[in-house]
Amino acid sequence: MAGSGFVGEEIRVESPDVVYTDTDILSYYNYNDSRIRGNVVTPTTERLVFKTQRQLPKTGLLLVGWGGNNGTTLTAGILANKLNITWNTKEGLNHPNYLGSICKSVTMRVGIDDRFMPVYAPLNNVVPLLNPNDLEIWGWDISSVNMGDAMRRAKVLEWDLQRQLYSNLKEMLPWPSIYIPEWIAANQSDRADNCLKGTKLEMVNTLRQNIKDFKNSRRLEKVVIVWTANTEKFAQIRPGVNDTADNLLRSLENNSSDISPSTMFAIASILEGCTYINGSPQNTFVPGCIELAERYHVLIAGDDFKSGQTKIKSVLSDFLINSGLKLQSVVSYNHLGNNDGKNLSAPETFRSKEISKSGVIDDVVRANRLMYRADESPDHCVVIKYVPYVGDSKRAMDEYISEIFMGGRNTIAMHNTCEDSLLAAPIILDLVILAELCTRVLVKRDKDEEFTKMHPVMSILSFLLKSPQVPPGSPIVHTLFPQRYAITNFFKALIGLPPENFMLLEHKVP
Ligand code: NAI
Repeated sequence: MAGSGFVGEEIRVESPDVVYTDTDILSYYNYNDSRIRGNVVTPTTERLVFKTQRQLPKTGLLLVGWGGNNGTTLTAGILANKLNITWNTKEGLNHPNYLGSICKSVTMRVGIDDRFMPVYAPLNNVVPLLNPNDLEIWGWDISSVNMGDAMRRAKVLEWDLQRQLYSNLKEMLPWPSIYIPEWIAANQSDRADNCLKGTKLEMVNTLRQNIKDFKNSRRLEKVVIVWTANTEKFAQIRPGVNDTADNLLRSLENNSSDISPSTMFAIASILEGCTYINGSPQNTFVPGCIELAERYHVLIAGDDFKSGQTKIKSVLSDFLINSGLKLQSVVSYNHLGNNDGKNLSAPETFRSKEISKSGVIDDVVRANRLMYRADESPDHCVVIKYVPYVGDSKRAMDEYISEIFMGGRNTIAMHNTCEDSLLAAPIILDLVILAELCTRVLVKRDKDEEFTKMHPVMSILSFLLKSPQVPPGSPIVHTLFPQRYAITNFFKALIGLPPENFMLLEHKVP
């Protein structure tokens, strides 16, 4: 935009409501909304205080499923950025980047300049954020293959880049992990040669020791753990087994078959005080696990990285329904040929993905009782097929049919081809960077004495997740731009600025 400004250094707010100390940013903030009873609306204001620690901690990232396509692509991508490795393709010389990361490649509007023109800043100039190049990375995998060969196996990155990264990556050997065959597809058994033995409690204790050793040997202040391993089948929620934190811990001690590997990682992570993010669709966060996170005040987020088709769906359904076009049918086909696709070719793991993808239009539909009755929603069908030849280059084909003015029909069909892991890797980075920020933010009501941590379930990360976990009782927002503004408005709140309002009144009021 002509005249658009840009702030290329850390922003400093001058306001009686914002205090910068050597260690923190304090923001005295008016949280405005409206309370509605019947047809009577009363504006409300809640005075909150945010305290954001400015110092960035030395942080480690542990990936579960490290040797997979996402794990290796992320590790190789960060290394390439850190070492500034360039590589050749038939198109010419390529430079490393962080495209696809909102923390590294996106700006947010901060305000207007003297000529009333918008001024933008990268997110890490608003509040301090981790630099991905500073992350210490390690992980677990049920496959013993080193990261160099795992990167080759993934066939995601260009050969000339792989060639230059191989010697560094081949030194990285994943820790053995938990393999319980009934939780993932049977077709994964041939790569499971790096598996922990013992009871479930013993395995969780080994994971906890891994985390401690990693933290101590690298002198880390914080560790974030991300599940990017294969999709598991859904866990049954059973009273007395996984419905409360105590029952979950007791079931672990009893070696209950109802506890999945991903939930065991979550338990280990929570007990070690490490933020845990679930990037796959399964219900890792059974009620007992959420209660455990609440008990230990450890942040958690999930489920399922929102990388491509679902992102588009959460935009298109918003566009159609909020344009007054009655969306009646959404059909999405995927085919992909990577190991994720192979694992999803089994009915039980596919079912987890299907559930995760299916809720994405619910909130826009529910918000519109003019077009949809309370019991009405569009047909929504999700199909995923495994086609080895296309490898990581996933195909997504979608058809949206809406009813329009005077009985007309509007059909939109689209085709998307993209390397899945090149979309997912920067999303994993954003999840880690934003989750780490959340661990540095304390909040209180103005009248309260003590600051507390935010609720452990980080719904603020919904933009990056297909099936967002939210605090119990909180509404789930699926639509993409509200999710995005939930992040940038939160950033603004941390430095005492009002949320984005889009009104441009400075250009309208004479
Ligand atoms: P992948 O199959 O290449 O990698 C998964 C890795 O996990 C494999 O190396 C496997 O050996 C390992 N693994 C399986 N069970 C394990 C366990 N219990 N402990 C440790 N390691 C274990 O899959 P990819 O493409 O990396 O995707 C990973 C996950 O992320 C999948 O669940 C996928 O559905 C999810 N996801 C991926 C997206 C993408 O765009 N790539 C988007 C959304 C979700």
